[in-house]
Amino acid sequence: MRLLVTGGAGFIGANYIRYVLSAHPEHHIINLDKITYSGNLENLKDIEEHPNYTFIRADICDRKSLEGVEFDAIVNFAAESHVDRSILDASPFLQTNIIGTHNLLEIARQRDCIFLHVSTDEVYGSIEKGSFNEKSPLMPNSPYAASKASSDMLVRAYVETHNIRAMITRCSNNYGPYQFPEKLIPLVIINALNKKLIPVYGDGMNVREWIYVEDHCKAINTVLHKGTHGEIYNIGSGDEQANIDLVKLLLVKIAERLGLKENGLARLINFVKDRQGHDRRYAIDSSKIEQQLGWKSEVRFDEGISRTVDWYISNKQWWQRIMSGEYIQYYNVQYAERLNK
Ligand code: NAD
Ligand code: TYD
Repeated sequence: MRLLVTGGAGFIGANYIRYVLSAHPEHHIINLDKITYSGNLENLKDIEEHPNYTFIRADICDRKSLEGVEFDAIVNFAAESHVDRSILDASPFLQTNIIGTHNLLEIARQRDCIFLHVSTDEVYGSIEKGSFNEKSPLMPNSPYAASKASSDMLVRAYVETHNIRAMITRCSNNYGPYQFPEKLIPLVIINALNKKLIPVYGDGMNVREWIYVEDHCKAINTVLHKGTHGEIYNIGSGDEQANIDLVKLLLVKIAERLGLKENGLARLINFVKDRQGHDRRYAIDSSKIEQQLGWKSEVRFDEGISRTVDWYISNKQWWQRIMSGEYIQYYNVQYAERLNK
């Protein structure tokens, strides 16, 4: 099978490519990525010479870039992915997440290839009790979530109207190696290692369901090979954590690894101004993929967090390069205001 993976130089895409190349030596992967601020070819350094791997630098909004490129399926990871950035400026989210997805849907229609759209639980909005299933209404609260919900609606429309072979996955919060340091878990680890303040939004009681990235990659692979066209599959782990508990756990793990007293690091915790429209709780019902396709998350939270802390401690060069680039300007502007709430 020839797979077109879009956004493969990002966090989940890079983990997915690495997983597929080892689990399916018969597949060929074409990674199409624009390399925005979060795309990083260093994430794939170890496989760039792999005989079953090709890289194309292009924008999913540019249909011409795929002329003459052959593939049987598209797995669409390419997106603007960070909620805080979507609050500052939603335009790139609408462009890539909506227009870009539409462009790929047109390609899938013309070529009659499989289209797997990687979406998010954030399209459902916030839930106080219980969990969202695939039939829950879409109630996005951030511009990011709204752009993803729009793309999901386009996928649905292309299935209904043009009968394309598409599927949607909606996963909860991922963590693991190669996650860009603007997201909570890598941000906490890196700030703790640098003895910098750790910004916790609001009262720290917002809850997220955390899944180890490799489990998400396996779920996508399961849907690609066993899923029913036209269906939506939720993907989650059941591992819910309030942000403040997660931050404390990370600090305990880091202190252990560095041989420090944990309460020294706890002094870095800094409650800051809340995110606008901050979703209180995400929780997802994954029983459909578990019962119908036989997938289940394997890496328990404590184990996944230990692996992730170890990875960031052992791969300082990876994040130090990012922290010295343009990202740090965004970080300083973003947090100067929050820290002085
Ligand atoms: P990321 O920001 O790390 O990676 C996004 C990648 O897409 C980058 O490599 C970037 O260069 C590329 N890209 C952006 N715009 C592009 C364009 N116009 N054309 C081509 N490439 C482009 O994001 P991620 O965390 O790896 O998320 C990947 C996908 O998974 C997204 O669609 C996101 O909505 C979804 N998702 C993420 C999570 C999570 O917790 N991170 C959870 C559920 C779903
Ligand atoms: P994030 O990693 O941005 O993922 P998402 O917003 O997609 O869930 O944030 C996870 C949670 O952590 C969310 O409730 C916001 C919170 N958060 C902080 O408290 N401090 C931070 O510096 C960041 C980036 C997030």
